[in-house]
Amino acid sequence: MKNVEIIGTGSYVPQRIVTNDELSTIVETSDEWISTRTGISERRISLGENTSDLAAKAALEALKSAKLDAKDIDLIIIATTSPDSYVPSTACIVQELIGATNAVCFDVSAACTGFIFALNTAVQYIKTGEYKNALVVGAEVLSKIMDWKDRNTCVLFGDGSGAMVLRAGEEGIIKTYMASDGVKGREFLHCFAAQNKNPFMYNSLDVKDKITMSGKDVFKFAVKVMASSIEKVLETTQNSIEDIDYIVPHQANIRIIEFVAKKLKIDMNKFFVNLNKYGNTSGASIPLALDEMNKQGLLKKGNKVIFVGFGGGLTWGSVLVKWTI
Ligand code: COA
Repeated sequence: MKNVEIIGTGSYVPQRIVTNDELSTIVETSDEWISTRTGISERRISLGENTSDLAAKAALEALKSAKLDAKDIDLIIIATTSPDSYVPSTACIVQELIGATNAVCFDVSAACTGFIFALNTAVQYIKTGEYKNALVVGAEVLSKIMDWKDRNTCVLFGDGSGAMVLRAGEEGIIKTYMASDGVKGREFLHCFAAQNKNPFMYNSLDVKDKITMSGKDVFKFAVKVMASSIEKVLETTQNSIEDIDYIVPHQANIRIIEFVAKKLKIDMNKFFVNLNKYGNTSGASIPLALDEMNKQGLLKKGNKVIFVGFGGGLTWGSVLVKWTI
C-alpha cells in the first residue's frame, strides 16, 4: 500500500464582498446579531460565476503550486452541494475547463463534510495504486440555493472554492474517518432537488428547493461530532492532541469551534479560522482555509494537521495528515 501526500493547494473566491450591514438592508438582521452569534463579518457572493468556474480557478492554482500539468491528473473529485447541473457532474465540466484530458471525474455529495469525503475517496484510490495524481476540489455557489428572505440561513453562508493536489508518496495522510446518520436529524439541514411531478400523478407536493435549517439542532450536533471526530482520527495512531500543530475545522460558526476547543481542552490558537471573511462555504471551507494557511507560510514540513468537518445528511469526518511539502 502506498501513502498519499498533499503536494499543492489553491483557492478562489468571487470578488463581490457582502458585509453584515449590507445584508441588514435585505433581511431584518444586524451586524451585531450576526457577528456575536457566528463570528461572520462578511462573505463572498458570486455575480454570475458558477460552481465549476470557481472550482476550475482553485484547481489551476493548486496544480501550479504542485508543479503539475492538468494532463498529469488521473482523478478529479469535486465536493459540492451546489453543482452547475444534475448532468454532467461539475467534475466533468472542470475537466474541460482546465484541460485534464486524462482524468476520471465525478462529484461527491456530503454537504459541508463533502470535502472530507472526497479527499478520503481519493486517498483510497491512490493507496490501492489505481490512480497516481488526484485533484480534489470543494466548490460552492450556495447563493443559488439560498432563501434570501430567510434570515435564519442567508446570513450564514457564502460562495468559494478550495483545491488540493494529491499524489502517491511515502508519508502524508495518517488516518481518515467518515460517518453518516441519515436516520436521526436528516431534516436538520435540507435542500430538495427537483420533485416528482409528472402528468401521471394526481397530486404533487410543492416543496422548497432552498436551504432550510434547524440552527439549534445543528449546533448541538456540530459540537458533539466535531469533538468526537478529532478524537477518532487520533485513535490507534500513537498521536495525542499535544502532537497536533493545527486543526482546520469546517468554518461554520466561531462559537462551535470555541465549544470544541473548551471541551477537548485545545488551545484556540491551534484552530485556523477564516469564517469571519467568508462565512460558511460548505464543501469549500476546509480546502479554502488550508490554502490560506499555506499561503501565509504557517505550515512547516513535518507539522501534523487535522481537518474536521460536519454537515447535512447528517455527515461528519476527519483526516490526520503529516505535512510533507
Ligand atoms: N438576525 C436577527 N435575528 C435572527 C437572525 C438574524 N440573522 N436569525 C435568527 N434570528 C432570530 C430568530 O428568529 C430567533 O428569534 P425568536 O427567539 O424571536 O424566535 C432568534 O434570533 C434565535 O436566537 P438564538 O436562539 O439565540 O440563536 P442561536 O444562538 O441559536 O444562533 C445560529 C442561531 C443559527 C447562529 C446557531 O444556532 C448556529 O450557528 N447553528 C448552527 C448552524 C450551522 O452551522 N449550520 C451549518 C452547518 S454545516
